[in-house]
Amino acid sequence: MEPDLGHALWAHRAQLARMRPRFEALRRAVDAPSDFPFPKWFALYALCLDVQPDLILELGRGYGNSTCVLVEAAHATGARVVSISIDPTGIWPERSAPRIRDVTGAAWFEPLDVREGDAGDVDLRDLFASAERPFLFWDAHSEELARHVLASRPGPMAVDDVGDVLSGEPDLSWYADQGLELYRIGDLYSAFEELPVIIDWLAQSERPWESAERSVARLLDREPAAHAVLAELGFPPTAVGGLLVIGSDA
Ligand SMILES: C[S@@+](CC[C@H](N)C(=O)[O-])C[C@H]1O[C@@H](n2cnc3c(N)ncnc32)[C@H](O)[C@@H]1O
Repeated sequence: MEPDLGHALWAHRAQLARMRPRFEALRRAVDAPSDFPFPKWFALYALCLDVQPDLILELGRGYGNSTCVLVEAAHATGARVVSISIDPTGIWPERSAPRIRDVTGAAWFEPLDVREGDAGDVDLRDLFASAERPFLFWDAHSEELARHVLASRPGPMAVDDVGDVLSGEPDLSWYADQGLELYRIGDLYSAFEELPVIIDWLAQSERPWESAERSVARLLDREPAAHAVLAELGFPPTAVGGLLVIGSDA
């Protein structure tokens, strides 16, 4: 499976450990921790190191937790980042970006192309075709957008907010309290309606895919010491979950 999240966390553990203070500072600056749990910062960065993309496309920026990770990954890999999101006016340019600049300085923003608007209106096929190794981080939710993304010949990707029962059954009452319906397909579940669309597409495309939970479980089977080592470095692998990782075509 390529990219392989468990492998990436283990193979890049030294670099991930070096990133930890930076991630902590950026996370404080963004100040929206529940939008993107801290273990995912390491997971997303590790996936980018694994893929070595020349283009990273982010769909769904919000206050910008994942944007920070992806720009850090861009500095490590030489990629450019295109971030497309439809957000309340000003939350990136007026709120998050100045706070981040205080941590990073202005040059940090150079690889980042921030676009405000509906990703459904963007020719994503053209964007992916402009790169040799595009990587997609997908955290914007709707069935319509899912159809648009999957029709655009994406490369490898990580889809946020897809869980695997491997790490425990979802807490149905929590979802009900939020007024969310839960989609459950095999071992995967999500509160977002793109999951059935993605699973249909996977069945037809023969793309490799794996949940974060399963990839980490494979790592721990191969390297039983990995849990203690990675936990000591600050990112216990069993805390990583809620990402569906999809490989490329061939
Ligand atoms: C869960 S938030 C993203 C959180 C962010 N990834 C983070 O790490 O903090 C989802 C974002 O996707 C945006 N969004 C939803 N549908 C969209 C669409 N069709 N096009 C662009 N952005 C969209 C929402 O406005 C919201 O800002």
